[in-house]
Amino acid sequence: MKPEQRFAHPVLDASALGAAPVAVRLLGDDVVLWRDESGTPRAAPDRCPHRGTRLSLGRICAGQIECPYHGWRFDGAGRCVHIPALPDFTPRATHAVAIFGVIEAHGLLWLHLDPEAVLPRFDAETDPKLRKLNVGPYDVATSAPRIVENFLDLAHFGFVHEGWLGDRAHVALDSYRVEPTANGFVATGCRAWQPQSNRLSSEGSWVDYRYELTAPYAAVLTKLPEKQDGYRDEIALFVCPVDEDASRVWFRMALTDHDSSDEQVRTFQHTIFTQDQPVLESQRPRRLPLSGGEVHCAADRSSAAYRRFLGEHGITFGTC
Ligand code: FES
Ligand code: FE
Repeated sequence: MKPEQRFAHPVLDASALGAAPVAVRLLGDDVVLWRDESGTPRAAPDRCPHRGTRLSLGRICAGQIECPYHGWRFDGAGRCVHIPALPDFTPRATHAVAIFGVIEAHGLLWLHLDPEAVLPRFDAETDPKLRKLNVGPYDVATSAPRIVENFLDLAHFGFVHEGWLGDRAHVALDSYRVEPTANGFVATGCRAWQPQSNRLSSEGSWVDYRYELTAPYAAVLTKLPEKQDGYRDEIALFVCPVDEDASRVWFRMALTDHDSSDEQVRTFQHTIFTQDQPVLESQRPRRLPLSGGEVHCAADRSSAAYRRFLGEHGITFGTC
């Protein structure tokens, strides 16, 4: 098993899986999701073991997925339970499809191959004082590591997010610290001057930033604006590594903002991310270079730590 397959990855909004099968892609493979009779989400390779047809083109009958070609049916454990051309035949165990583990969390469905796989931690999820909602998904034409590295990057605010998360008069960075954790690292001592830090901010303010890498393709940002006493944003970035150079992105927001509508929060975050997206999609190579080819400066401490983390953990999907 490749190192990246030892982690659970988000693939779909839980609310997007209803009565019909849904096709997704993860780590370069096609996967079909459906709900069994009890409503439990199930996942399998999107390829019928009979003749290779996409199971996601089929339908769900009593919680079993039916292949669109010859109607073979597979139950939630992946067993073939019915071959219509041979109604009295009991299909062999070898007629089964493999089944992936599915976890429902943070409003998303996560897939894993490894029973030991754990979700990236997001402690704010259980904080009753914070209001939660998801923004996304965004389909982005670049690798998952490019997106994570951009999320950890402070030096682009005054350029990419000018007038929002930064301005050109305040682009110099304080020195910040990066320390390893059990699952990644944490960057502290970061500060940014932000004209419009969140939807409720009414004036520019210094904002304390704390970043934590929580998995190869997930990170959490904590923002504390100095001028909004008691206000806190916790934003988790969850990236699905779809292909080496294509990703699907969600933001799980946990905010002190209980006043804005969901639509207003989404519009703010959408504005910010659609400022990042064209820059991200312009980067070449799309995969994150771990073995040279780009130059660095001291302000890139968190991105250097991220590249080192990927290298040390043998994560190759989305890197070159
Ligand atoms: Fe799926 Fe024949 S290809 S039942
Ligand atoms: Fe950005």
